[in-house]
Amino acid sequence: MKNNLVEFLDLGFQPLANSFIPINNIRKKERKYKLKISFNKKNFLVSIKNTFSSNEMFNDTYPYRSSMSKSVSKSFKELSNKIKKKLNPKNILEIGSNDGTFMNYFNKKKIVGIEPCSNVEKITKRKGFKTYPLYWNKKTSDFLKKKHGEFDLIYSANTLSHIKNLNSVFKSIYNCLSKEGSLIIEDPSLLDCLKTNTYDQFYNEHIYVFSCIALNEVLKKNKLQIYRIEKIKLHGGSIRYYIKKTTSKKKIEKSFFKQILDEEKFGLKKLNTYLNFSKRVKKSKKKLIKLFSSLKKQEFKIIGYGATAKSTTVLNYCEIDNKYIDYFLDTTPDKQNKFTPGTKIKILKYKNGIENDVDYVFLGAWNFKKEIFKKEKKFIDRGGKFITHNPYPKIIK
Ligand code: TMP
Repeated sequence: MKNNLVEFLDLGFQPLANSFIPINNIRKKERKYKLKISFNKKNFLVSIKNTFSSNEMFNDTYPYRSSMSKSVSKSFKELSNKIKKKLNPKNILEIGSNDGTFMNYFNKKKIVGIEPCSNVEKITKRKGFKTYPLYWNKKTSDFLKKKHGEFDLIYSANTLSHIKNLNSVFKSIYNCLSKEGSLIIEDPSLLDCLKTNTYDQFYNEHIYVFSCIALNEVLKKNKLQIYRIEKIKLHGGSIRYYIKKTTSKKKIEKSFFKQILDEEKFGLKKLNTYLNFSKRVKKSKKKLIKLFSSLKKQEFKIIGYGATAKSTTVLNYCEIDNKYIDYFLDTTPDKQNKFTPGTKIKILKYKNGIENDVDYVFLGAWNFKKEIFKKEKKFIDRGGKFITHNPYPKIIK
């Protein structure tokens, strides 16, 4: 296996992307690791090299909340309607149910969630949903099957790519999925990541960034098959994969073959494609540093918007710290009044928009650009500008 892995990108020393620092730990040494990305020539999987155990990343201090974004809630609502209409499942399991944003759209008797981060799992439980503070593995799958029977629908958004042992992940899914059931998963698209130079899709939690090609290779080994895909805009460009048991009667739809073809045409099976991406990322770093330095020299006030896990990668890779960015605004309570990992930029509570003395805003949450621009019309109207790093570093006019 190891011989098939070729490292193509080095994003330097990074802290854990979601380990926002409380004020009393500000002088403490942070844990850092080398963020290197590899391509597997045999099964085409792209993965990070140094990984952390699940309980180091996903525990009772996990700050992320799905409910913080309107776009996420809207997407979950639309999907829930589609599921009810087209698949009409009798019982549903959500793997990585976070604060219950997806579960909210279903009958409490029909859906079960598992979420290992007990701080967010409790929120869903308080709403009256059946959830368990468990990691996804064979033991959990056996337990749920015994307690709730086989599931007609298993849903998991931005979770399975966070688990290292994919064969165990999919074997455990196969174990509790009904014969004609569907597994729906959503994860960032490798094709979009490479096309838009969004290297910040890589951080410790994203052990894999899936292509349809690579995911299907892993699924095949576990008697599963993608039968439909949908491209969605969430998280900077994701794919929603509809997956069935190989033996299921469901037809494989055109969208699957088209995605495979598009990815092959772009070169996702070739090492050279990744080496070229790496060159573009290095250029992007130089350009972003130049942009920030020039604005700072002109004494403009720059803040950040959305202290995302993705922005941890960008800021640490490009060494943009509190000398450049005065503070971040964020709506997530568990991030507020803390500091960004590695770069130690203060995170303030988002109240009523952007202060009048701010000239430039770095889009940490660039993936919610539209939603943010709509909200910050006042800032834009008074001449305020946004900075983004993708598809290349620039000021958005
Ligand atoms: P994500 O990219 O990992 O989903 O995280 C988005 C972060 O951005 C999350 O901490 C919430 C924050 N955010 C805001 O502060 N304001 C907003 O308008 C949006 C959409 C997100």
